[in-house]
Amino acid sequence: MRHASFPDESGPIGVFDSGYGGLTILTQIRRLLPEYDYLYLGDNARTPYGTRSFEVVYEYTSQCVEQLFQMGCHLVILACNTASAKALKSIQVNDIPQLDEHRRVLGIIRPTVEAIGNITQNRHVGILATPGTIKSMSYPMEIYKLYPDIKVSGEACPIWVPLVESGEYQSDGADYFVSKHISHLLDKDPEIDTIVLGCTHYPLLLNKIRKYVPENINIISQGEYVAVSLQDYLKRHTEIDGKCTKGGSCRYLTTESVETFLPAATKFLNESIKAETICI
Ligand code: DGL
Repeated sequence: MRHASFPDESGPIGVFDSGYGGLTILTQIRRLLPEYDYLYLGDNARTPYGTRSFEVVYEYTSQCVEQLFQMGCHLVILACNTASAKALKSIQVNDIPQLDEHRRVLGIIRPTVEAIGNITQNRHVGILATPGTIKSMSYPMEIYKLYPDIKVSGEACPIWVPLVESGEYQSDGADYFVSKHISHLLDKDPEIDTIVLGCTHYPLLLNKIRKYVPENINIISQGEYVAVSLQDYLKRHTEIDGKCTKGGSCRYLTTESVETFLPAATKFLNESIKAETICI
């Protein structure tokens, strides 16, 4: 089935997040695959998703995906763990067959999990993520499918996304919340040798996180693994690759005002960009 209002011509790769976090994924994807065109959509007006119910995250994510389809994307990456955990399956099973069975939506949990197995030495892994991602159990379930020998402990960090979205991630106040959740996680399993930043906002807190995590513990940010996995996907799915334009451009959309979005987005990306507001 094809949706009448979706353009059939090739288009950019859509990259979606509830806010700024997906920019950390987009940066790594563009580093590895600079030749493609990208359309980033941050639902900053409705962020955070991490404390919202399954139904609401699914509804918001599915609206944003449909918007990206309407704007010509044939492939959309949910560069958000919460959306990947709570909405991806429903979108793939319910929405895609209704909207257009030739379009694809991919998440970022699976590529991260695949990488974990080669990084942990002692098979003790910790996940730091939003309450929604932790509650969904997506990480332990995906990890046990691939690596049943890995022990997984999770810690929800409800304040970390608001710290990042509000630009407070380098403040002294952030230290309290960062150290608190890291010590909770390490109390759950003192043998952890690998910690996954299971939220795309968290790389922004990396300096603080590193300060409270013992040096011998690996800290995994997802961007580079997602990028490698996307490269591999495009090689294996030439029919989708052929629907992705290659002009090296990147366009930024936000559901917030441009004035609100730009200062933080510029900091995240380390470059000045233009953005447009979109109503969903
Ligand atoms: N960046 C999102 C993630 O990776 C969550 C942000 C939010 O709570 O909206 O989970």
